[in-house]
Amino acid sequence: MRVLPLSFAVVLAVASALGGLLVLPGGARAQQQASPGTASSSGGSLSQDDIARMLPSTDMGANAARNADPHLAPVNDSPATPFDAAPIPHNPLAPDAQAIGAKTCVACHSLENVQASHSLHVASFRAGAANTGPQAACESCHGPGSEHAKNPTAPGSIIAFTHGSATTPQTQQEVCLGCHAGGARQHWIGSVHQERGLSCSDCHNPMARLSPEGVLAKPSINEVCATCHKDIMAKFNRRSHMPLPEGQMSCVDCHNPHGTLTRPLLKTDTVNETCYTCHAEKRGPFLFEHAPVRESCLNCHDPHGSNQQTLLVAPLPMLCQQCHTMTRHPNDLQVPTNLGNGSTPDERLMGRACLTCHTNIHGSNNPSGSRFHK
Ligand code: HEC
Ligand code: HEC
Ligand code: HEC
Ligand code: HEC
Ligand code: HEC
Ligand code: HEC
Ligand code: HEC
Ligand code: HEC
Ligand code: HEC
Ligand code: HEC
Repeated sequence: MRVLPLSFAVVLAVASALGGLLVLPGGARAQQQASPGTASSSGGSLSQDDIARMLPSTDMGANAARNADPHLAPVNDSPATPFDAAPIPHNPLAPDAQAIGAKTCVACHSLENVQASHSLHVASFRAGAANTGPQAACESCHGPGSEHAKNPTAPGSIIAFTHGSATTPQTQQEVCLGCHAGGARQHWIGSVHQERGLSCSDCHNPMARLSPEGVLAKPSINEVCATCHKDIMAKFNRRSHMPLPEGQMSCVDCHNPHGTLTRPLLKTDTVNETCYTCHAEKRGPFLFEHAPVRESCLNCHDPHGSNQQTLLVAPLPMLCQQCHTMTRHPNDLQVPTNLGNGSTPDERLMGRACLTCHTNIHGSNNPSGSRFHK
């Protein structure tokens, strides 16, 4: 049952991909008929629609699933500025520079060009219309290059994306946001990553094809996050963990690294809403609610991993006894004679401990389940 919501998301993704295949070629044909003389429809070159169709669908805001869920606020995903409409960004350190075209860059940077030719952005620019796309293939990100070409070693003469360069992270971000504002990035400004001086290129590298999707700087999302968050990644190696190291989940199932209104970068308004996206059966409603479950799943679970069973933050029965000391069960449960090898073993300390009797710990719908026995 628990895997159902996941497979539903897969079905959605497949369905929308199929939808794209079935619908878009028709749209592209209609466009070509309407404008038979344009450059983009001649000689078998790809249109903007073709490129959009070929790209894998990324779901940063979990939009498809999210927008279908009545409990969540819908995501307004604005599409990127198309390659054919690429602006040449302003370089504040070379305010008078003019665009010189990609051919000139490639003349000196042939090595980078070999790599970049396989990358999504440069390949897409080259697939575009004869004079707009290919010419803008480098300067749409690096800014106008005339001063750099004259004096390549002058710091800041071209927009660079490495931490040691003269270009500020501010300028670097503005380049990418010039085409990728809004959508999943509407809360980038002021987010913890932005404020700690990260730039888009700490996680993305558009100069080579290093990941199957997402233009990432590492082959997978989890590896990207692990470059800085080694401690969190290590927790996923504990005895109990969700299947993230196994590749079935990633950090962005729960977090949006581009910034959110919720700490710490959670994609939903509360922790529990994040958990319900996959563990929907825990949402209830229940006839008898267990107060700490409603308050936050983190009262008992650590989402990144635990050395206890089922991601619990403390072993049973101590977990329960943190809150339940003055119950009608005796308080002096934990004496040596009560342990499994003692003289009077107490079943409340053995095996599943409290859960032996209180089985429905997340809530009960049974009319006589007020103690979560049923
Ligand atoms: C005349 C040859 C030449 C041309 C033309 C040229 N570059 Fe460069 N570029 C260089 C050299 C040499 C360096 C290394 C400078 C250094 O190490 O200080 C460099 C460095 C760079 C850097 C790194 C800058 C930094 O501060 O780290 C970028 C980015 C770059 N070039 C992009 C481009 C782009 C985009 C174009 C086209 C608009 C271009 N280059 C045209 C020779 C050239
Ligand atoms: C989508 C934006 C984008 C496009 C298009 C692009 N670049 Fe880059 N380029 C980057 C980023 C980001 C980096 C930093 C990569 C990294 O983290 O190592 C970079 C790095 C470089 C560097 C290395 C400089 C350094 O700081 O070490 C050179 C040289 C360069 N690009 C040249 C080019 C050339 C030539 C083209 C056109 C064929 C091109 N770029 C197209 C974004 C772009
Ligand atoms: C000229 C506009 C333009 C600029 C500048 C630009 N991009 Fe893009 N980018 C696009 C378009 C168009 C797409 C493909 C359509 C889409 O995914 O929305 C895209 C796709 C992407 C994707 C998604 C790839 C995928 O697999 O879906 C990422 C990530 C990305 N860009 C990052 C960056 C970064 C980082 C920078 C700055 C270094 C940057 N882009 C600069 C236009 C741009
Ligand atoms: C802390 C890491 C990190 C930083 C910083 C970051 N990204 Fe991303 N970005 C990701 C990850 C991870 C994905 C998901 C890729 C996937 O789904 O395959 C992603 C996805 C994207 C996408 C494609 C999905 C979408 O929402 O359309 C775009 C475009 C993008 N990022 C642009 C940017 C831009 C622009 C910046 C800088 C303002 C930036 N990113 C900064 C990690 C980061
Ligand atoms: C280049 C380093 C770097 C990378 C890569 C990186 N982060 Fe971070 N991240 C940071 C820094 C720095 C902080 C701030 C830590 C602090 O203040 O203690 C942070 C904080 C966070 C926080 C806590 C936010 C809060 O409000 O406390 C989360 C969640 C997070 N990152 C998730 C991610 C995810 C998911 C990825 C991968 C997509 C990622 N990070 C990639 C550097 C990075
Ligand atoms: C199942 C959802 C989920 C997944 C997957 C997940 N996180 Fe978290 N993460 C959370 C929640 C919930 C919190 C809030 C924890 C708290 O407040 O104690 C959190 C907190 C954080 C924090 C803030 C500080 C801390 O130590 O708790 C960082 C950093 C972080 N996550 C990074 C990551 C990284 C990196 C990955 C991938 C390796 C990841 N998370 C995967 C749900 C998740
Ligand atoms: C993206 C989907 C997803 C999200 C979001 C998610 N989970 Fe999970 N969770 C899973 C999957 C998949 C499993 C493994 C199920 C299995 O093996 O049967 C799992 C397993 C668990 C388990 C059982 C672990 C064990 O060792 O048996 C617990 C407890 C759990 N999740 C708690 C949470 C909490 C708390 C949250 C919110 C912070 C959360 N989950 C968010 C997908 C998710
Ligand atoms: C009062 C403590 C407590 C809270 C709060 C709590 N859980 Fe649990 N959870 C447990 C215990 C104890 C188990 C082990 C149950 C077992 O082994 O039968 C468990 C098991 C699970 C499991 C795996 C077995 C199953 O029942 O599917 C999932 C998934 C899970 N919890 C999700 C959640 C989510 C989501 C929340 C928040 C809505 C949450 N839990 C809140 C105590 C708690
Ligand atoms: C974070 C504190 C907390 C934890 C941990 C916790 N509980 Fe509770 N539990 C409560 C609260 C608060 C109530 C509601 C008490 C009330 O309504 O008087 C409650 C109610 C109950 C009830 C119903 C009793 C009643 O008076 O209605 C049972 C049974 C129960 N918990 C068992 C457990 C078990 C077993 C565990 C361990 C798996 C556990 N609890 C863990 C806080 C907690
Ligand atoms: C052998 C079965 C059994 C085990 C094991 C057990 N309980 Fe109970 N528990 C009960 C029964 C039966 C009741 C209901 C008594 C009643 O309603 O008169 C109860 C009632 C409770 C209540 C409600 C008390 C009240 O004042 O109404 C709490 C809280 C509770 N148990 C917590 C725990 C905790 C914590 C553990 C583990 C340390 C535990 N139980 C282990 C059978 C068990």
